[in-house]
Amino acid sequence: MLNEHATAEGTAAYARRFAVYPQNYRSVLNCSISSLGIGTYLGEEDAATDEAYFAALRAAVTGGINLIDTAVNYRCQRSERVIGRVLNELIRNGELKRNHVMVATKGGYIPFDESMPANPRVWFEDNFIRPGIIAQGDLVQGMHCMTPRYLGAMLELSRSNLQLQTLDIYYIHNPETQLAEITRDESMARTRNAFEFLEQAVERGQIGCYGVATWNGFRLRSGERAYLSLTELVNAAHDVGGSSHHFKVIQLPYNLAMTEALSLRNQRLADGSQVSLLAAADAMGIAVCTSATLLQGQLTSRLPAMLQTAFPGLESDAQRSIQFARSTPGVSVALVGMSSAAHVAHNLATLRCPPAPDSVMRLFTSG
Ligand SMILES: NC(=O)c1ccc[n+]([C@@H]2O[C@H](COP(=O)([O-])OP(=O)(O)OC[C@H]3O[C@@H](n4cnc5c(N)ncnc54)[C@H](OP(=O)(O)O)[C@@H]3O)[C@@H](O)[C@H]2O)c1
Repeated sequence: MLNEHATAEGTAAYARRFAVYPQNYRSVLNCSISSLGIGTYLGEEDAATDEAYFAALRAAVTGGINLIDTAVNYRCQRSERVIGRVLNELIRNGELKRNHVMVATKGGYIPFDESMPANPRVWFEDNFIRPGIIAQGDLVQGMHCMTPRYLGAMLELSRSNLQLQTLDIYYIHNPETQLAEITRDESMARTRNAFEFLEQAVERGQIGCYGVATWNGFRLRSGERAYLSLTELVNAAHDVGGSSHHFKVIQLPYNLAMTEALSLRNQRLADGSQVSLLAAADAMGIAVCTSATLLQGQLTSRLPAMLQTAFPGLESDAQRSIQFARSTPGVSVALVGMSSAAHVAHNLATLRCPPAPDSVMRLFTSG
């Protein structure tokens, strides 16, 4: 296992090497992090995709991207394992230092091992119920769990897959999934238990900080069932970790077709004001990494021509979509899933331009 973690000095040295424009590296969790991060969600669970991700990750971290995002269940743990291999090779060859790069993973969904088992129900019983990792009643929708016992097992699995002593960011994966089956009070009680476990993991040096990575929770109106309140989550972290708690970062989708983080005022602050998720996170000092920057590949062609005017100097709609997300005030890092090294090379061109100015980004703000 590699020791160390991303540090202020290491990431600053990395940023100095690559920053054509200093604004392209942001202060995230006291580190200097590229405004474009690499995600590892999509793709087949096979050796060819593993090798494609190996080349793409290599191109990314040797080309200026120093945030890698994954989850234990992505591609049946294969994404985490490829990241572990790439980092080990680059660090052993002296091409990268562990403290240059931030690695984020997630736990919550049941992860298969390399491929879908022939009989998932039997496999689940053998691997999770019989060993006592999950008790009946802990599992929601047949696939999601966030008890301390389960998260402990997932954290160990991720550290082993990634071959890292310390994971820089650990997210609870889509915690709003729980709200499909249990009450809001019960869900918050489970969240507090999970946060208490994650505070202990920080103390043990297994993770640097924690947060929630979400799909729809932060994009819904407050009355809706799966809605998540950032204030409630921060209060829960405060309950278990005091004022120096380590709930520091959140993730949600944000792109040209999903703009709720910026445009929907669904978060209430302590002073009673109703603001957008990005404004709330800014007010509370929480970093925001955004996902699905290309709407899973759909925002790479046939975008309105006005975007060429708004974002000049870029070659493609993929680059314009990235420019939109990473230039939005309050977005720390825009994550783009890339299993192709050619896509990495193409998308890295955005880091050779400055982010779009606020005057342009205001065109996208309603109200
Ligand atoms: N709830 C959550 O926690 C959550 C949900 C969704 C996503 N995420 C994270 O956010 C990351 C990004 O989201 P995503 O991967 O779902 O979707 P995305 O970034 O919107 O799109 C990824 C897709 O776009 C393709 N692509 C990348 N660059 C391209 C280019 N220049 N031209 C054409 N196609 C291009 C990729 O193809 P190739 O693979 O062939 O390069 C991939 O199929 C994920 O990988 C994951 O780490 C988290």
